[in-house]
Amino acid sequence: MVAALTLQEKVALVTGQGMAFPGLPEDMQAPAVGSIENKVEGAAGATVAVPRLGIPSLVLADGPAGVRISPTRKDAPGRSFHATGFPIGTALASSWDRSLVQQVGAAIGDEAAAYGIDVMLTPAQNIHRYPLGGRNYEYYAEDPVVSGQIAAALVKGLQERGVGASMKHYAVNNHEWNRSTINVKVDERALREIYLKGFEITAREGQPWTVMSSYNKLNGPYTSESHWLLTDVLRAQWGYQGVVMTDWFGGHDAVAQMQAGNELLMPGTGKQRKAIVAAVEGGELDPAILDRNVTRVLELVLRSRAFKQLPHSDQPDLKASAVLSRTAGAQGMVLLKNEGGALPLPAAARLALLGHGSYEMIAGGTGSGDVNKAYIVGLPQGLGKAGFSNADGLEARYARYISQQKAKLPKTEWYLPQQRIPELELAPAQLQRLAAEQDVAVVTIGRGSGEFVDRSTEGDFSLTAGERQLLQQTADAFHARGKKLVVVLNIGGVIETASWGALADAILLAWQPGQEAGDAIADVLSGAVNPSGKLTDTFALQLSDYPASKGFPGKELLGPDPDAPSPFGIRTAREAEVSYDDGIWVGYRHFDTHKVAVAYPFGFGLSYTTFDYDGLTVDASSEGRVRASVRITNTGPTAGREVAQVYVSAPHGALQKPAQELRAFGKTDLLQPGQSQVLQFEIDARDLASFDSSRGRWVADPGSYSLRVGASSRDIRVQQAFEKEQESEYAP
Ligand code: GLC
Repeated sequence: MVAALTLQEKVALVTGQGMAFPGLPEDMQAPAVGSIENKVEGAAGATVAVPRLGIPSLVLADGPAGVRISPTRKDAPGRSFHATGFPIGTALASSWDRSLVQQVGAAIGDEAAAYGIDVMLTPAQNIHRYPLGGRNYEYYAEDPVVSGQIAAALVKGLQERGVGASMKHYAVNNHEWNRSTINVKVDERALREIYLKGFEITAREGQPWTVMSSYNKLNGPYTSESHWLLTDVLRAQWGYQGVVMTDWFGGHDAVAQMQAGNELLMPGTGKQRKAIVAAVEGGELDPAILDRNVTRVLELVLRSRAFKQLPHSDQPDLKASAVLSRTAGAQGMVLLKNEGGALPLPAAARLALLGHGSYEMIAGGTGSGDVNKAYIVGLPQGLGKAGFSNADGLEARYARYISQQKAKLPKTEWYLPQQRIPELELAPAQLQRLAAEQDVAVVTIGRGSGEFVDRSTEGDFSLTAGERQLLQQTADAFHARGKKLVVVLNIGGVIETASWGALADAILLAWQPGQEAGDAIADVLSGAVNPSGKLTDTFALQLSDYPASKGFPGKELLGPDPDAPSPFGIRTAREAEVSYDDGIWVGYRHFDTHKVAVAYPFGFGLSYTTFDYDGLTVDASSEGRVRASVRITNTGPTAGREVAQVYVSAPHGALQKPAQELRAFGKTDLLQPGQSQVLQFEIDARDLASFDSSRGRWVADPGSYSLRVGASSRDIRVQQAFEKEQESEYAP
């Protein structure tokens, strides 16, 4: 088939159909061949068809929380094309439940297939290096094992439905500021152990059909132009077989991208096509390289639903997906605090539902990770269905306030996080009355976040003065009457909690739990679902405790760079650089090793019951792997699930190492009181190694290792040492 293609057709196959929207510079617009609109309106992009050879175009759509396409179509007036808004990536990861995440992947795959989509642009799995990263909500964790294994589960779910995944953004796209031009400088050890390790796990275990290279540069070249990253590491070392595509308008030099092993340039521009044709004709680009890339794209086409001409109904089973979204939302919630039996709420409790966040659920983040949902279940509705009542007039009062305040806000583009309105100030007398008449106060703190912009400190990472005042006054009024205050965090990333946490009797971290938000939160508050989520990030006492805070987000080098691609013009794309001087000291690796006090540690999460760990076995006899098992028993009053984490502490050789590193994890089934389950773990011996940049190898030192199983990184329940007689080293 490659031999039958003309040069023009080959070049079209390695560049997408293009995108045309007002304001996009002429040379950035590709002659949209068989425009996307004819296939799936609102999809992110499509590849080019070559009908004479039976090559269909493939449709690519976002994103990590569900299918993002237009909810209406010009050619189908009166019909709607909604998709399910699933919980955000961080919430899915916080479930620590691979099989659940695989089910979510399969459900997204079903919806994508129903809408005629061939590749979903998910999972998004960059490391949560710093809480202010704007897209952390789409990503999973501060740790590469959680990140890589959760992403692999999503990939498996999607692809078992015949829909391709796209592991993104490969690599080190950990924040949004100047993302399309910034040069990220990382030493090779930190790169291998922290920023690439998750992608390596997903590539090996998930085998995603595609990978999306990131916008930024890595140690000089754009990742999409880096032969080292895309060919030496991804293909030669990890054995990756699929297609690498650029992020939209990512990178700069189409010929360099072709040579590096970035086979597909999305969304595709006329400028790129001209450059590639000229390079082949001018002898700068070896035609064999182009043919190699075309071959890889065609291999993707051959496995696609489009090539198999599978029909699609445009009517996915949104009801089934909604049930799963609600389950996943509840499973990802983390109970951070629960004193005096505040939760679960007493049946039919009369609530004072406070905070404008209680009346405006945030189901997910904005930008390409958003989903055009049919609805979002509100918290008053969810709590009402669960048998709770709200104080008379409160909902109407907040509704009026919210609409008044929103009317004053400046118009924000749909793809950017909406500005927050100030918190409604309640008169002390009203709070007193509420405390007299209602049983429990519930305050929701909401935070949006999204693509294109990073988060801010004031009023985002930290509470606003209004929020702080509301918590203080509500706590005073209700505690004066021996009643409880429950705080719900409807947020997309880590916030500051230490300065106000004492005011709350209970804190439920709900994340942005998808479209069924109100029901999912009510499920946990009512006790219908026993919370089992655990943190995949450290909640530090303050931002400056994160090592990354020193250089974040980097520095701009020159003034505006006329050549820097900034196609949307909505983000500054100036030459900039950031140096990840914190190296491997990211998250708990830093906090635990350097014994820094934190608000809530990595892996932390409470339950309405308690669990006992015993019967640890460790078998390190076989050269290739370490096997462990532990028995988990529900020793409390109600059924629940437990996430057990396996950390390994390695002896120091030439390299300084973190106090411990997560090497495996597992989640029990729902255990009834008194019931036990034995969880088994396997750790590849290679995963005991650290990367020694001076030797260019992974090295596992000889000596005494400690395998620890814990309920969190700082709640180790059982541990056992094992010896390693001699050093092992492994090629990268
Ligand atoms: C966006 C995002 C990427 C998304 C793509 C298509 O800019 O960076 O995650 O998949 O473009 O929308």
